[in-house]
Amino acid sequence: MNTGGDNDISCLNYHIFEKKHEDIVNKMKHFTINIIRGKRIEYSEISEMANEIISEYDKPQYILKTLNKLRDADDYTYYHSVNVSFYAMLLGGWLNLARKDIKIIIQAGLMHDIGKTKIPNVLLNKKGVLSIKEFEEIRRHAIYGYEMVRDNPEIPEDVKDVILMHHEREDRSGYPLQASDHNLSIYTKIVSVADVYEAMTANRPYKKALTPFEAFEEFHITCRGRLNMHLVNTLLYNLSRYYVGSKVVLNTGQLANIAYIPPQCAWKPIIDVGSNFLDLSTEKEIFISHMA
Ligand SMILES: [Fe+2]
Repeated sequence: MNTGGDNDISCLNYHIFEKKHEDIVNKMKHFTINIIRGKRIEYSEISEMANEIISEYDKPQYILKTLNKLRDADDYTYYHSVNVSFYAMLLGGWLNLARKDIKIIIQAGLMHDIGKTKIPNVLLNKKGVLSIKEFEEIRRHAIYGYEMVRDNPEIPEDVKDVILMHHEREDRSGYPLQASDHNLSIYTKIVSVADVYEAMTANRPYKKALTPFEAFEEFHITCRGRLNMHLVNTLLYNLSRYYVGSKVVLNTGQLANIAYIPPQCAWKPIIDVGSNFLDLSTEKEIFISHMA
């Protein structure tokens, strides 16, 4: 991914951003561990992290390059919350939302899975098939989270709503309430899209990360009718623009550059393999194996 110019200054600025992202993840880890140990929720810490995140609003290239880095699954929970906040912030910006709304979205991104602190890590990271009972227990994190924040007057009601509703889907296939489209706030819809995208593109103990292009296709295939497609399309269109010029490795082992990404079919870019261009929408045997 292009970071805005291959010079020393952009390289230095990128590393400064990367360090800041790591600091925020460590703060999120500290915040979460304190809650697991029984401390009350200090919401001022979430507000401070959200302020740090929004201060990076104008650096989408650095944000995406950092969020795309594949990491060990051990600290995934903290990275996930922080990365969902960054994606949700970018999406809120691409939707031209007001800054006060984007701040709520970021806070909601940080807090959305707080109920997972009530679920044992062995269950959250379990490889293989979950029993129905285990599956139901994991799903309960939305209710657990809501119960943890419901009576806390420091936490905005919109954030509490996202914690409870972020797994609801427009066709009522979600949980815990099987709510329908008109019950879902714009904050919930944005965090839900960011949550799904982040989960697809991250390594987990039970699955390998998808490349952004695989995730674009997966969104297209599985999310229609479940997530808000205007938000999905806004995310995919704007994300894909930043991958033009990125280096990728093909399933043939060849190194290639992304030359053009068609807006209506972002998962089938045209790639430059040096000697010629390949259109992945017609080259059925060739696909992007991973980002270089
Ligand atoms: Fe969740």
